[in-house]
Amino acid sequence: MATLEIRDLHVSVEAENGPREILRGVDLTVKQGETHAIMGPNGSGKSTLAYSLAGHPKYTVTGGSVLLDGEDVLEMSVDERARAGVFLAMQYPVEVPGVSVSNFLRTAATAVRGEAPKLRLWVKEVKEAMASLQMDPAFAERNVNEGFSGGEKKRHEILQLELLKPKIAILDETDSGLDVDALRIVSEGINRVRSTGEVGTLLVTHYTRILRYIKPDYVHVFAGGRIVESGGAELADKLEEEGYESYVKGGASE
Ligand SMILES: Nc1ncnc2c1ncn2[C@@H]1O[C@H](COP(=O)(O)OP(=O)(O)OP(=O)(O)O)[C@@H](O)[C@H]1O
Ligand SMILES: [Mg+2]
Repeated sequence: MATLEIRDLHVSVEAENGPREILRGVDLTVKQGETHAIMGPNGSGKSTLAYSLAGHPKYTVTGGSVLLDGEDVLEMSVDERARAGVFLAMQYPVEVPGVSVSNFLRTAATAVRGEAPKLRLWVKEVKEAMASLQMDPAFAERNVNEGFSGGEKKRHEILQLELLKPKIAILDETDSGLDVDALRIVSEGINRVRSTGEVGTLLVTHYTRILRYIKPDYVHVFAGGRIVESGGAELADKLEEEGYESYVKGGASE
């Protein structure tokens, strides 16, 4: 069973006035089949954690370790991480001008699977995945995220998730900006992938809305660049009621 182990992770970004430490000792273990929700105030470092795990070059790891099945993830290139089974759905998906969704997905699948999927099977696979996410087939020929609405971008992220079948899926605010129907459709997509029992999910969210569809095994409070409390699904309700003040007070954040 695949296990992602994050130990005492410290990450800095290069700010104008020098390096700034954002992650200050993150400890988290995610196993295949588990779902972990991460909730926390704006600016606490949740996206930084997501990007650091995916290998974004802007973030410098200054301490700690990340192991996937004992393999050092931090030593891997972005491509190697994807091939090892780490997937990131970004909070703000980027446009890829001149590359169609269909080509993008096939290239990604080829990289992850190690060989190009057979064209005819692939076309069918994409069609089915798009249909289950209620995406207009015309999207396959549009350029990635170019002119996509917020909700369309999020669906496209989940389309990738369904097709790439990672071991560890990091979903950074995949629920934000979705209308009620889209939230349900996207959640169903995530649940289809989860139901295989083969993916460990790290779900960054601000809202308990999505947790009505996707029951987390664990909820973690993220504040000041690290996890300050962990609990079960009930912790999300407490956060919704009480907010994060008790965690941020005392200077944990800045
Ligand atoms: N390149 C950068 N230069 C300076 N500061 C940065 C840079 N990148 C991130 N930060 C800072 O790091 C902190 C954490 O940002 P991050 O995006 O990880 O927060 P977040 O928890 O995802 O917040 P949100 O809930 O608003 O998405 C913020 O204060 C942000 O301004
Ligand atoms: Mg964020």
